[in-house]
Order: sequence, then structure tokens, then C-alpha cells
Amino acid sequence: VPDSVDKARALLAGARRVVVFTGAGVSAESGIPTFRDSLTGLWERFDAQALATPEAFRADPALVWGWYEWRRTAVSRASPNAAHRAIATVEARHPGTVVITQNVDDLHERAGSAAPLHLHGSLFAPRCADCGRPAARPDGTADEPLEGRRLPPPACAHCAGPVRPGVVWFGEALPADVLDRAVEAAASCDLLLTVGTSGLVHPAAEIPHVAARLGAAVVQINPQPTPLDAVADVNLHGAAAEILPLLTR
Ligand code: NAD
Ligand code: APR
Ligand code: ZN
Repeated sequence: VPDSVDKARALLAGARRVVVFTGAGVSAESGIPTFRDSLTGLWERFDAQALATPEAFRADPALVWGWYEWRRTAVSRASPNAAHRAIATVEARHPGTVVITQNVDDLHERAGSAAPLHLHGSLFAPRCADCGRPAARPDGTADEPLEGRRLPPPACAHCAGPVRPGVVWFGEALPADVLDRAVEAAASCDLLLTVGTSGLVHPAAEIPHVAARLGAAVVQINPQPTPLDAVADVNLHGAAAEILPLLTR
């Protein structure tokens, strides 16, 4: 591993335009469950189709809203980890760095990342399912929604429609403007760090391929192999909170 860490450090030191592309694994060491890790992954314990689809929300808004409120309160209780902080350090040292995340938590922001691009939305941007207007952010963790507890969604202040999580569900399109800006950043960077993503879910998983096709170096940080191994110049097999601080030391 040491020589590949040195190679990654050299690539980062010499990079002009950096993109950091993250998935659930970057929040794992903050205690936030990922989706596909065996045993602990959310989709091992819950049925994605019953909770993360528009059909599921229409069928049982309270079940879906309660589940996302449980996830939001878990995030509110968690703290950013050394990986999130190292990414904020990269941004401070390399002006123009763009952070692109598939995560719906706010740990990048709380670690100091200015404006990460949320390809799959955010737990902190609820909106009306009918008129689309942003809804008031649920505050704090007052009503501690227990795992699996139903919670009827609030009603939109404007049209009384049901408020939904501001998260992209299976079957939904990604926010086009966010995806366009992410592709543009990937196309014009000379180094892309991909951290903590299984690289399984499209179109987000295309981002590292766009960077590589247009000549960027790609460094992957993930304890497991992923389809992105094929596109990475350097594969660092380890935990993000251990490895990223080595690159910004
Ligand atoms: P999809 O239905 O094509 O599924 C894409 C990937 O999601 C699959 O390759 C698989 O890895 C995973 N997946 C699908 N069904 C699953 C299941 N039952 N259990 C576990 N994993 C499952 O996704 P889509 O319809 O193209 O979704 C559109 C966009 O919404 C994608 O970019 C996706 O990443 C996003 N999304 C977001 C969330 C979220 O909770 N933020 C959940 C699902 C999808
Ligand atoms: N450090 C780095 N990577 C880690 C760590 C860690 N400490 N722990 C786990 N990982 C890796 C796992 O090996 C796995 O490859 O993080 C990855 C998590 O993959 P997923 O659970 O599939 O999460 P992600 O890639 O973000 O999923 C993409 O799928 O369900 C949808 O929309 C949802 O945004 C999500 C998308
Ligand atoms: Zn409304």
C-alpha cells in the first residue's frame, strides 16, 4: 500500500483541478449505515423498493416519511469523520475543487465543504410532493422517530399537499442541473478521487468514467473491489478515515 499512497499523494500535490466523488462509505466511520455493505447495509435490512420509490411514498407516506426522519435524526446525532475533514482540507488547498456526493447526509457541509453537489438530493431539503415548493426543514431530533415508526408527513404550507424527503428515489431522475454541473466538473478535472462508493448505481457511477475518458487521473479509496477498480490509476484498499488523512498529511 505505501507506494500507492505515495503515488496518490504526488498526484494530489500536482493536481490543478480536483474532483472528489463520494458515496455512503465516506460516512461509514461516522456510524451512518451504507446501503450495500453485507449485514450492516440498509438494503440488507430494509426493502429499497418498499421505502425508496415514489410508489412506496404514494402507497404509505407515513411509513416512508418516518423511515427518512429516522435516518435524518441519526445523521443529526452523528459527526463528520476524518475523511470528511480531509476532503475539506483538499478544498482549502486546491481552490476550485468540486465535491460531488451521492450521499443525502450533511456531513460534508458540517466538515467545512462549501457547496457539495448532491446528486441524490438531501435529507435536509424536504419539499411538497404536489407543488414542489421547499418545505420547512424538520428541526432537531425532537420527535425521536424510532426505527420503523410511522410518522405522517407534514402538510405543505402552500397547498396542503404531503411533504416528501428531498431525496432521489429508485426510478426518479437526478436533478438535471446538478448532474450537468457534476459531469462538467468531472470532464475538466485532472484528478478525481472516488471515495466510498460501490460504483453500482447509475448514472452517478458514470462520473469517474467521464473524468478518466477525458484524461484525468483517478484514485479510488474503498476497502472492497468495485467496478471502478478498472478505471482507477491508483486503488487504495482501506477505510476513508484512515487513508484520506495520509494524502493530506
Ligand atoms: P435502479 O432501480 O436502476 O437501481 C440502480 C441501482 O440501485 C441498482 O443497480 C442496484 O444497485 C440498486 N438497487 C435497485 N433496487 C434495489 C434494491 N431493491 N435493493 C438494493 N439495491 C437496489 O435505480 P434508478 O431507478 O435508476 O434510480 C434513479 C436514481 O435514484 C439513481 O441515480 C439512484 O442512485 C437514485 N437512488 C437514490 C436512492 C436514495 O435513497 N438516495 C435510492 C435509490 C436510488
Ligand atoms: N471507507 C471507504 N469506503 C467504505 C467504507 C469506509 N470506511 N466502508 C464501506 N465502504 C465502501 C463499501 O465497500 C462500498 O463499496 O462504501 C461503499 C458503499 O457502497 P453503497 O452502500 O452501495 O453506497 P453508494 O455507493 O453510496 O450507493 C449509491 O445507491 O441506494 C442508492 O441512492 C443510493 O446514493 C446511494 C446509491
Ligand atoms: Zn405544496
